[in-house]
Amino acid sequence: MSTSPVARPLTALVAPTLLERVFEHPERIVDLVDRGAPYKTLAAVHKDPPTVPAAPWFRNFWALGGKATFPGAEEVFHNPLYIEAAKELFGAKVVTPLAMMTNLNAPSPAAPPHLDLPFFRGAHKREVPSWLLAPMGYSGLFHRWAIPMASALTWIYAGPGGEFEYWPAGLDEPSLEISAMSSNQGVMADNEYTYHRVCQVGSRDDFVADNTVPYDATLELDGDEWSIRRGTDELARYARGAIRISVLWKAYCFADESEAHAFTSGVDDLTPSTIVEMFQDDLKRRGVAVDAPADLGGGDLWGETIRATYGISGY
Ligand SMILES: [Fe+2]
Repeated sequence: MSTSPVARPLTALVAPTLLERVFEHPERIVDLVDRGAPYKTLAAVHKDPPTVPAAPWFRNFWALGGKATFPGAEEVFHNPLYIEAAKELFGAKVVTPLAMMTNLNAPSPAAPPHLDLPFFRGAHKREVPSWLLAPMGYSGLFHRWAIPMASALTWIYAGPGGEFEYWPAGLDEPSLEISAMSSNQGVMADNEYTYHRVCQVGSRDDFVADNTVPYDATLELDGDEWSIRRGTDELARYARGAIRISVLWKAYCFADESEAHAFTSGVDDLTPSTIVEMFQDDLKRRGVAVDAPADLGGGDLWGETIRATYGISGY
C-alpha cells in the first residue's frame, strides 16, 4: 500500500473546547431555524433504512460539500470565529468549511455515545450512502484515508439538560461533561475520534411515548410552539424553548497548503469497490461469510451484516 498523503493520529487531535459568543448575531440563527420548519427526522434526512425506530431528533442542512445550501446560511457557514478557533486548536493553516446542519432534539433520554459520521478521501461527497460511513468509521479499517475535521456544536438552548458528555480516553474510561451551557456557546472537538453524546434533554415527563417517533414524523412550528406530527395527527407539542436546538459545523483542517493539495489531488482515494473489498476481506478474517452486495442501498443481507459487525447505533 502507498503512504497516505494526509494522515492523522488514531487518538483525538484536540480536547473538546468551549467557545464563547459563537455568532455575532444569534437572532439570525433563530430566524434561520424558524425558516427551516417543518423538519424531518434525522433518520429520514440521512435515508437510514426505515425499519429502525426514529429518535425525536430532527435536522436540516445549511451547507453541504463546502457550499451553503440553505438560503441565508452563507454568512454563518463562514463564521470567522469558527475558522480562527479551528486554525488554532487543530494547528491548521488551511481550514475549509464543509458542512453545517441543525439538530432539534425534543425532550428525550441521553443519546448513545457515538462517533460522528467520518469523512475519508474518496468518500466525503456522497460517493457512498451515509449509512455506510458509520461502520466505516467504527471498523477502523479506513483510518489511513481519514481527513482531519473540526466539529463545532453551538447551542441555541437555555432549557434543562442537553449537556455535551465525552469520553476523552475511550468508552472504557470515565467521561467528562461540558455543562452549564447557555445559548450561543459552543464546543469545538474532534468528533470523529472522540466518543460523545447529548445528555438527557428536558424532564422525563415530557418525553414522547416510547422515546421514538415515526420515521416520517415532522417537527412543525406553530406560533410560539413546536408540534411533532405525522400527517394531520399531532403526537406531541412543546413550548419553543423546550426543544434543544444546536447547530453543527464541520470543516477540513489541513496543516498547510501541500496537505490540502494532497487531499484534492485524488491520488490514493478510496472508491466504492475498494471499500466493499476491504470489508469483505475483514469479514472473511472474522469468519463471517456473506456475498458482496449488488448495490450499496444497505437494505440487503450485506448491509445487515455490516451494521451488525461494525455498528454502534446513533450519531
Ligand atoms: Fe455527534
